[in-house]
Amino acid sequence: MPRQLFVTTALPYANGNFHIGHIMEYIQADIWVRYQRMMGSRVHFVCADDAHGAPIMIAAEKAGKTPQQFVADIAAGRKPYLDGFHIGFDNWHSTDGAENHELAQQIYRDLKAAGLIFTRVIAQFFDTEKNMFLPDRFIKGECPKCGSADQYGDNCEVCGAVYNPTEVKNPYSALSGVTPVLRDSEHYFFKLSDPRCVAFLEKWTQGANASGQAHLQGEVYNKIKEWLLPDEDGKRELGDWDISRDAPYFGIEIPDAPGKYFYVWLDAPIGYLAALKNRFIKLAGGATLGAQQYDAFMADPATEQYHFIGKDIITFHTLFWPAMLHFSGRKTPNAIFVHGFLTVNSEKMSKSRGTGLDPLKYLSLGMNPEWLRYYIAAKLNARNEDVEFSPEDFMARVNSDLVGKYINIASRAAGFIAKRFDGKLGAVSADGAALLTQLRVERASIEQLYESREFAKALRETMLLADRVNEYVDANKPWELAKQEGMTERLHDVCTVCMEAFSVLTAYLKPVLPALAAQVEAFLGIAPLTFDSTRQALGAGHRIGNYQHLLQRVDIKQLEALFEAPVEAPSPQPSPAGRGSEQPGGEEIAATISIDDFSKIDLRIARIVNCEPVAGSTKLLRLTLDAGEGTDPQGKPITRNVFSGIASAYQPQQLIGKFTVMVANLAPRKMKFGLSEGMVLAASHADEKSSPGIYVLEPFAGAQVGMRVR
Ligand code: 2FM
Ligand code: ZN
Repeated sequence: MPRQLFVTTALPYANGNFHIGHIMEYIQADIWVRYQRMMGSRVHFVCADDAHGAPIMIAAEKAGKTPQQFVADIAAGRKPYLDGFHIGFDNWHSTDGAENHELAQQIYRDLKAAGLIFTRVIAQFFDTEKNMFLPDRFIKGECPKCGSADQYGDNCEVCGAVYNPTEVKNPYSALSGVTPVLRDSEHYFFKLSDPRCVAFLEKWTQGANASGQAHLQGEVYNKIKEWLLPDEDGKRELGDWDISRDAPYFGIEIPDAPGKYFYVWLDAPIGYLAALKNRFIKLAGGATLGAQQYDAFMADPATEQYHFIGKDIITFHTLFWPAMLHFSGRKTPNAIFVHGFLTVNSEKMSKSRGTGLDPLKYLSLGMNPEWLRYYIAAKLNARNEDVEFSPEDFMARVNSDLVGKYINIASRAAGFIAKRFDGKLGAVSADGAALLTQLRVERASIEQLYESREFAKALRETMLLADRVNEYVDANKPWELAKQEGMTERLHDVCTVCMEAFSVLTAYLKPVLPALAAQVEAFLGIAPLTFDSTRQALGAGHRIGNYQHLLQRVDIKQLEALFEAPVEAPSPQPSPAGRGSEQPGGEEIAATISIDDFSKIDLRIARIVNCEPVAGSTKLLRLTLDAGEGTDPQGKPITRNVFSGIASAYQPQQLIGKFTVMVANLAPRKMKFGLSEGMVLAASHADEKSSPGIYVLEPFAGAQVGMRVR
């Protein structure tokens, strides 16, 4: 019986485009799923937009859209990323879909019937102008510990203190600016502190599935046991979970509780099930039949359920989610696979900002998506560890390993087969057969490495095998055999061994490089490769096609372009179609902000003490700015280094000595060329093509270095 699998990645919030961290997770899961399919497993690989919650509701309002429309617009932008990186989800759904509303309400009813839901009145900040309870993130004020202004309702970014929103001094609503009032509200709770839950979780988190695989990675269990297990005083961190939010809220209504909605994290993981159910409905072509098939699939003890997630959402997936499933009488996951974060150029990634590696830019530069898949796979193991993207390493691995070792085998042999042997493979003699056997015996070990998500090791083993083949080529020198009298048969033998080896190595790489493998299959004239098919030789007499170059090398220029900073100021916002001429400067005036918002931006008069071109960039100039910040201990004036995307508009000499306006409190940004410690202001039209030009701001005469602009 083939294994039947249900595999998901974390559902992304529907309030922004994918960043490279999402793509890494999807590639990891996609490789595993493709491996499973090559082994004959039946897999449902699904994902969905995580649609609900206050931040999305508020972002939609700001954008002047209904939350549904807002989320639909985000969803419409997913395809180029997924197709672009060969990520083959079988279904993409939304947590606002009908299936999720129904499943979330049913699971809630089941938990209630199990006696695990209770209510309690809690006091919360309420915005009387917006008429809503404020989520912590939308309460701001002075830190109760250090007094810093404009801190969030739950923690201070200056001193790092963590506190309750009610402790904030002089609180105000980030939505309306009014002082919020404390108001009582009845909230619904999931009783995680119930002894039944605690006992279940203690067992489940240390448990293993039917095949002996632990539910959680060791390092993940070590993290959550701090929450789960009692401390010396017998107290546990794990408390009851507040699962309700008051209207207005974009979410799913709680049954028999007017004006109450499920907190987004209650219905988000249920979205995994909803996305699967929606797939069954689509496959069956009808809701009733699809629902029956879904029920049968989930009731089947043979069904295996796996979730790939990042390390920031461990507690939701290893505690709340298994408990919700178990106590609502449902199947619990077979395992949760946690990965670390992706850092780019050693820069930590933030969820909202992403990093300097923009996935769509990568594709638009014509960079091969399978380079990235290969590189990410070459860095991934089964542990919850961060992964570093380094451009130099990326280039080395793709060019030296993938092209230099693997592709090279085919390119060294295929031409001879076509030209000298009418495209047909020949007989293999003993030394070649021994080499091919070496390659084939590694199959079981490489399978095992894919199965256990040790992708880096799987690729390392495969590349070691490619080394063996290249040593064989170097020892036999087909290019010399081709010139030697009486060596035709040996040439045929050696080139045949190369093509047989290339076929085996392609199978081993196929989960990572699906498009390349398909090209190779077409060129070799063979059926889709599986791990099992590597047992069988192509065989003497098999005809292969004409070799066409299979994979380019990475060009350093592509990497330079990929990491070249976007033009910093101003960022053009194209105006809505058909309204361009009515918009000043080609774009709509941005949403209204308060004077407080404006005063957060510290603008200073600065003198451009030096300006020079940036080697390797056509867009940037490097400015050295003096904003009157005094002198360093050596008595040298303190200056700022700023990269600005104005090279198309100015020669460096034109700017030296001029005064301008600088954003002085912008967080420093690490760029490929160095640290940028601010930004200069410049004007441009949104449509650069119709109204070209960038104009750096210069103050009226008399302004002094260091003066604040307000
Ligand atoms: O952290 C996040 O991006 C969440 N949207 C993940 C949700 S995963 C699942 F629970 F839906
Ligand atoms: Zn503080």
